Amino acid sequence: MSATVSLRVQMATSPILSASILAADFARLGDEIRVAAEGGADWIHIDVMDGHLVPNLTMGPVIVEACRRATTLPLDVHLMVERPEALFPAFAEAGADSLTVHVEATAHLHRALQAIRGLGLRAGVAINPATPPVAVAEVLNEVDLVLVMTVNPGYSGQAFLPACLDKVRRVRHMLDAAGSAARLQVDGGIDANTGTQAAESGADVFVAAQAIFRHPDGIAGGLRALRQAVEPAPAG
Ligand code: DX5
Ligand code: ZN
Repeated sequence: MSATVSLRVQMATSPILSASILAADFARLGDEIRVAAEGGADWIHIDVMDGHLVPNLTMGPVIVEACRRATTLPLDVHLMVERPEALFPAFAEAGADSLTVHVEATAHLHRALQAIRGLGLRAGVAINPATPPVAVAEVLNEVDLVLVMTVNPGYSGQAFLPACLDKVRRVRHMLDAAGSAARLQVDGGIDANTGTQAAESGADVFVAAQAIFRHPDGIAGGLRALRQAVEPAPAG
């Protein structure tokens, strides 16, 4: 058995597909989410951007609230905003299930993560491509999810950065060494090909926008292809 296969078989948790609505048709958002849910999405990923931490401006609590009415799937809210703490109550109220903050966005990461959990939500921490894994080393007990960005955040449809795979491996080792059950999420340029590579490196939550909502075989086809790509190889 190769080292890769044994790593994937050892993973106690099954892969999660988080469908990023950033590439959905916003004129038909509820329908697109329902098709994704029926097609096998596990979570709905909502990219909140403020035009400061990242160059783009996207959505806020009103969109989360609309998504909440469209599905019972967990809403995985990725906060690409400066000073995210001020927004936690509004996103909790809107129906978010998890909030992920960037280490680059706050001077008080530990306090921010505790505040998210204090609201009864799952807490995630994200690192940009230029940020090393050590940036999350002191908060591993405070998180339910670590997000390793595989593009520089800001837009859907960017090319996957292969150099990030080594970082996924290093974060996987950190989580395993700490005995952490936190999920390891990858986000940016994930499709069947890069999804396989990320899974082999130890990721277990796969965010995709283009590869799901703009897949040539439709939303369900995109989810099927991605699922197949990230499923652990059968044991034996
Ligand atoms: C990028 C966002 C991603 C984005 C992914 O800043 O955080 O979630 O929607 O889009 P794709 O999968 O198209 O790269
Ligand atoms: Zn995202």
